[in-house]
Amino acid sequence: MRTVVLVSGSGTNLQAMIDALHTGDAPVEIAAVGADKPCAGLERAEAAGIPTFVVRPSEHADREQWNRALEREVASHRPDRVVLAGFMRIVDARFVAAFPGRIINTHPSLLPSFPGAHAVRDALAHGVKITGATVHEVVADVDAGPVLAQVAVPVRDGDTEDTLHERIKTAERQLLVDTLEALSR
Ligand code: GRF
Repeated sequence: MRTVVLVSGSGTNLQAMIDALHTGDAPVEIAAVGADKPCAGLERAEAAGIPTFVVRPSEHADREQWNRALEREVASHRPDRVVLAGFMRIVDARFVAAFPGRIINTHPSLLPSFPGAHAVRDALAHGVKITGATVHEVVADVDAGPVLAQVAVPVRDGDTEDTLHERIKTAERQLLVDTLEALSR
């Protein structure tokens, strides 16, 4: 399963995919890793010998042009699947339509609770006692596609956004790897 992964940050979800899935004759071949800016995730890909690319919004006239450039770059790697693993930009409906049913996102909450870019902060602010992570298919609406898998994570007394996000990410990485593995069989 040729897979293109898009990242924006530390890339620990990507690393989990590299370690568990991108080995020998594993069912998932990470064909390329792309980002919207230089980031640690890209360095992880380079260290693993995986081709990388960057499509910066600042180098395109508007969001539409940026989406088309990203779409071209992703398509050039002929992916069977595109994984948004901590990619902090919103792709548009045309991008989604270019890879129908083939884009997967991971999100640090139990969707449909706490969509958006501040899911962990929002869950803490709401005072929920259980949150988690969701792996879902990407549709044109943000954080709204069919849920493929979820894992619950407890909120503990004294949690900060960082401590809670770390606990979620530990579970999220395993959820993402398990889901991609199951989908690739
Ligand atoms: C993950 O929790 C992802 O769901 C969220 O940002 C985090 C990315 O972590 N949107 P990493 O870059 O994979 O370490």
